[in-house]
Amino acid sequence: MMNLTLKIWRQKNADDKGKIVDYPVSGISPDMSFLEMLDVLNQELIEKGEEPVAFDHDCREGICGTCSLYINGRAHGPQTHITACQLHMRSFNDGDTIYIEPWRANAFPVIKDLIVDRSAFDRIQQAGGFISVNTSGNTQDANAIPIEKEHADKAFDAATCIGCGACVASCKNSSAMLFVSAKVSQFALLPQGQVEATDRVLNMVKQMDAEGFGNCTNTGACEVECPKGISLENIARMNREYLAASLKG
Ligand code: SF4
Ligand code: FES
Repeated sequence: MMNLTLKIWRQKNADDKGKIVDYPVSGISPDMSFLEMLDVLNQELIEKGEEPVAFDHDCREGICGTCSLYINGRAHGPQTHITACQLHMRSFNDGDTIYIEPWRANAFPVIKDLIVDRSAFDRIQQAGGFISVNTSGNTQDANAIPIEKEHADKAFDAATCIGCGACVASCKNSSAMLFVSAKVSQFALLPQGQVEATDRVLNMVKQMDAEGFGNCTNTGACEVECPKGISLENIARMNREYLAASLKG
């Protein structure tokens, strides 16, 4: 069993200044997930009549993208290619001090404690992250359209983006390019995505800029910290798509 000191960002609401508060926790099993460890702390706080620490979570299996925790200065903690909910306490040592903070980006304002508002990502998706399909009864079976294996694989890889925002949180410019490029690439590589390709990339990039995300300066921290291993290759593809769309427009 492990004894730890947690240094957690507490912030009552968006207007509160916020501060780091120390919490000792004991009896933590190395087999617990990071979120289960926070559950133990919150149970203790509730029993003491104190306000539990607010943090986002849903699936707890690496697919929903909500568990946005900055742990010891890294998005999703010290392991690569996993989300905070998949992180286990065996990645830490007895006696460790662990800093736990929310994503830091102007476009992701803190709602409370460790929860940030990531609705900017929803608005970018709504600007173009979809295809329009004729559902009048004569819709072609998607499997009837042959797609090169290489393109299908790359589109699938792009589609594994879970919209967690770790790319933004780990970028010194708070750029959302990796996220947006994954969403653009997912369709740009498939014939089904061609009809709206021009509007899609222009509208999604416009919305990304309107939300206040920073520019990409090719540092690559996003690719390193992305739990799904989304490649920088997608950013290069989005830039090509954007240039082609601008010339057409
Ligand atoms: S690109 Fe990676 S880090 Fe960024 S939102 Fe998608 S899954 Fe998360
Ligand atoms: S809680 Fe769903 S990805 Fe972590």
